[in-house]
Amino acid sequence: MKRVILFVMMGWTALFAVSGEEVFKTKCASCHDNYIPQTKLNVNYEHNNSDLKLKAPTLTELSFRLKDQVGDRTLDAEGQKFEIEEWLTKFLKDPAANPKTILPKRTRGVFGDMPSVKVNEDEVEALADYMYDYAEQMMVKHGVKRYSYQEALKIAKQEGKIIVIEGFIPYCRGCMWMDRNVMVEPEVKAALEKDFVLVKKNLLIEKLPLGMKRLGTPSFYFIGSDGKSILEMVEGTGTIEEFLQLLQSVKEKAKR
Ligand code: HEC
Repeated sequence: MKRVILFVMMGWTALFAVSGEEVFKTKCASCHDNYIPQTKLNVNYEHNNSDLKLKAPTLTELSFRLKDQVGDRTLDAEGQKFEIEEWLTKFLKDPAANPKTILPKRTRGVFGDMPSVKVNEDEVEALADYMYDYAEQMMVKHGVKRYSYQEALKIAKQEGKIIVIEGFIPYCRGCMWMDRNVMVEPEVKAALEKDFVLVKKNLLIEKLPLGMKRLGTPSFYFIGSDGKSILEMVEGTGTIEEFLQLLQSVKEKAKR
């Protein structure tokens, strides 16, 4: 008998588990869009929001900013999510009284204050989870497909493509900047899809192939389609144009 009750109760909680995505859709999405390419957003903010006439920053902007600005980035995801939950709880109670904005200077004065939105404890917890994870979800949705190194080796051989390993560590600001501003932008995505196969490696826990020594992060390691020749290793962030130039120069090296 006891067992039956326990199972029933477990079913009950699962049934009522709150989905952050749903909460966001019903309570936040009327003002906050999910994703708009960063280059478009940049121009929009230069024009004081007159192109897109957004009601509020996008969820993508909020996700990256929360990860960057709230709590300790070097904690594991669960630790930082907890800090984000605390911050959101306070913020949502009275958004206009928010003493420390997470938004960058260039959006100040573009939007008015956010009105307060009623959410319960479970909903804030679910929101913190969803908003934290959204940056990565957005990357997967809008970026180029990623492969494991083994898969990449096969594809590179079959299709004559160059392997590019993007080396990151989870709390590296430059990595987040590069992902958000460069790696998902349409021109970069097209160039990568055409001639490259992308592998992402967390350099805190994963090794590089071919005995390559890791550089600082973010860093990019290019390997020829034979899977044996190291074509280039570079460290740091760059603009879309600089990254496209890098891809071009690696392609020329591969031909030699
Ligand atoms: C009626 C429109 C509206 C709704 C609904 C709304 N927001 Fe906002 N939100 C805004 C505006 C406008 C801003 C920008 C405020 C500013 O520039 O100071 C904003 C800013 C924010 C910020 C950044 C605050 C800062 O300055 O640090 C967060 C985080 C945020 N919203 C989360 C949410 C969440 C979570 C929900 C749903 C529970 C939500 N918003 C619902 C309009 C809205």
